[in-house]
Amino acid sequence: MSEKNKKSQQPQSPVDFVIREESCHYRHRIPLGFNRACKCPPTHINCLTAKDWLKSQLGVWQFTYEARDVRDKSIHPATFPISLSKKVIELFTHQGELILDPFVGSGTTLVAASDTNRNAVGFDLQEKYIDLCEQRLKHNSNLFNESRQISIQDDARDITAYLEPETVSLIWTSPPYANLLNRTRKNKSRRDRNNEQLGKVEQYSQDVRDLGTMEIEDYTQTMGNIFGSLLPMLRPKAHCVINVPDMWWENKRITIHVSLIQELRSRGYELRNIIIWDRTNIVNKIGIFGWPSNYITMGVTFEYLLDFWRPPIHEVVF
Ligand SMILES: C[S@@+](CC[C@H](N)C(=O)[O-])C[C@H]1O[C@@H](n2cnc3c(N)ncnc32)[C@H](O)[C@@H]1O
Repeated sequence: MSEKNKKSQQPQSPVDFVIREESCHYRHRIPLGFNRACKCPPTHINCLTAKDWLKSQLGVWQFTYEARDVRDKSIHPATFPISLSKKVIELFTHQGELILDPFVGSGTTLVAASDTNRNAVGFDLQEKYIDLCEQRLKHNSNLFNESRQISIQDDARDITAYLEPETVSLIWTSPPYANLLNRTRKNKSRRDRNNEQLGKVEQYSQDVRDLGTMEIEDYTQTMGNIFGSLLPMLRPKAHCVINVPDMWWENKRITIHVSLIQELRSRGYELRNIIIWDRTNIVNKIGIFGWPSNYITMGVTFEYLLDFWRPPIHEVVF
């Protein structure tokens, strides 16, 4: 193809908040900034003061939801709080840098990026969630900074079409948890009689590309393929933080976090930290599980934040 033809196929129009299949930006490199907009010394990994850094050293974190958070499960069944997202972003990036959320859902990562002056791009298969991201970003537009956030309706397997290598400073996401939500809810997990979750399947979709429809083995391998393809997009020493719980299934513990650690290590990521997100302050109306013969901890009371990085590239000295 001639240079002129190649150019005419490049997207021309400015990107707003979303890219869908019909957009001229679909599966093209996106025009998003990725360089620092702060004056921090080059060796600093974030813009935090020593005092803020000190607070982040605890290995157990707690958060509360705010009015802007999406908590209605009929709008999206599994969102994390904006405050959690902001903490991860502020810990691992500088202002102006680029964040990627491969499973963006309701767009919490994008809202947090807008609040903190970071560029960000998020992907989701579902049109309804991309619409939701668009609405949230419009309501959250931040006049005081120049960062941009974009949500793209596409499969996480196709992300590399949009990004240049070594431009992403943080991958931060909460992926589907294999097919463990893909079942009707039993009354046990909630004490109240008006339990709206009862008998419902709280799943994102039945799309075969949706990782929430897959058995754990298939899921783990697909996650490995996706994150393996994303590793070259990360800058060396850039972090990748994944939020997952473990689950009970037919009275067996499904250790999703163990499967993911093993898989990502085999794809070139290095595990740095495991942080516990203590959710006890935000769960309520818990029913009794297992009493009096079978002790099981409730999955909803804590989740893991698995912190990996792309290992530094060591120069060989002769
Ligand atoms: C746990 S939710 C993310 C929630 C998000 N952290 C929030 O606060 O709203 C996981 C999302 O992954 C999406 N998803 C599942 N399979 C996908 C795929 N192959 N590519 C892109 N998104 C996918 C689902 O539609 C769902 O919205």
